[in-house]
Amino acid sequence: MSSRDEMQATVEAIVQPGKGILAADESSPTIAKRFASIGTESTEANRRAWRALLLGTPGVGEFISGVILYEETLGQATDDGVPLPKLAADQGIVPGIKVDAGKIALANAPGDEITQGLDGLGARLEGYRAQGARFAKWRAVYNVSASLPSRLAIEANADSLARYAAICQQQGVVPIVEPEVLMDGEHSIDRCAEVTEDVLHEVFHALHRHRVILELMLLKPNMVVPGKDCPEQATSEQVAARTVEVLRRTVPAAVPGIFFLSGGQSAAEATVNLDAMNRVGPHPWVLSFSYGRALQDPALKAWRGQLDNAARAQQALLWRARLNGAARDGRYEPSMEDEFAAEAR
Ligand code: 13P
Repeated sequence: MSSRDEMQATVEAIVQPGKGILAADESSPTIAKRFASIGTESTEANRRAWRALLLGTPGVGEFISGVILYEETLGQATDDGVPLPKLAADQGIVPGIKVDAGKIALANAPGDEITQGLDGLGARLEGYRAQGARFAKWRAVYNVSASLPSRLAIEANADSLARYAAICQQQGVVPIVEPEVLMDGEHSIDRCAEVTEDVLHEVFHALHRHRVILELMLLKPNMVVPGKDCPEQATSEQVAARTVEVLRRTVPAAVPGIFFLSGGQSAAEATVNLDAMNRVGPHPWVLSFSYGRALQDPALKAWRGQLDNAARAQQALLWRARLNGAARDGRYEPSMEDEFAAEAR
């Protein structure tokens, strides 16, 4: 198979009806924070146990078509010696890998950040491919205030995202391009819409400049929502309308799929917002999920680092995945939340 055919096959495997992506690529500091919230230490053994639990959830492949892993996880195996990428692949889940090296302050742009990790990326991708990864992820973040992000940050991050995407495609790896306009702050939904439109416009301009094949990439954006501390919160219908409006203005129809991040929304909010968007279709692209916290949090709370809780945690993950699978097709009903509570009793 040519590398182009292989990337096409990867895209088709991920963009399936009723399915989305599990983001399980928390960096070491982030997973330590998540584990601290359940009183669990972030040791290599605990990270391995947690991610083996997630990927080994029976039936999860019915709703999850791809998983984003952290570099450490690519090299880990279950107690029985099954490599974790293989555990995912055996469930029909395409393994992917986070390849950025995190963010630092952007020089000469106070309050803005830039993502690093381009040096040596081509060689690293070759290694990740050999370990089973078929797609990659790079996250750029944008802090929001009345004056942030600056033009400089918008342009610099767009260029890095596009360079990363071009290098991925050169290596036969499908890039997920993730520009995240953060929810932190008091800003309004209007301000989030304005920034997200500026950011996506610039990202697609850069992708074009760098000759990235739009048909062979996926986008992972934020939804258009008010800041967490904004006094005026929005309904799911408002979030859906504003998000779709911005996407229609900025994302070419050639992009096969848009997989939202949850970004600090509760698990239920992330589901209902995705569902609302799929109810106002049809859209030129698939609208699905690539959730970290919104998929993992209920399972993490059930697990609490205890082997005895593994089955309950898997049940919680499977349930959230099922609900998001329904939202991916605009078939979610809030009453489904109660069914789980009844089942879990
Ligand atoms: P959240 O859904 O928790 O925002 O995580 C998704 C992700 O991959 C962030 O980079």
